[in-house]
Amino acid sequence: MPRLIRHDAEGPIKIEPQDKPIFVCACGLSKNFPFCDGAHKGCKSETPGVVSVYDAERERVIEERDD
Ligand code: FES
Repeated sequence: MPRLIRHDAEGPIKIEPQDKPIFVCACGLSKNFPFCDGAHKGCKSETPGVVSVYDAERERVIEERDD
């Protein structure tokens, strides 16, 4: 069942449960969820003020909607 989930973050959340920090994906584009894999860099090309809808692979924007 497909579903749309809205993410507003453009980068990861850093947590430090032990001596080594962990970066948790907050943008929704990581293919290694829940961990950040750097895919949030693609958020920089999104158009401000619109909702970007990505393809199933979370690689490219297929639609832009009014916010
Ligand atoms: S915050 Fe999502 S890939 Fe980095």
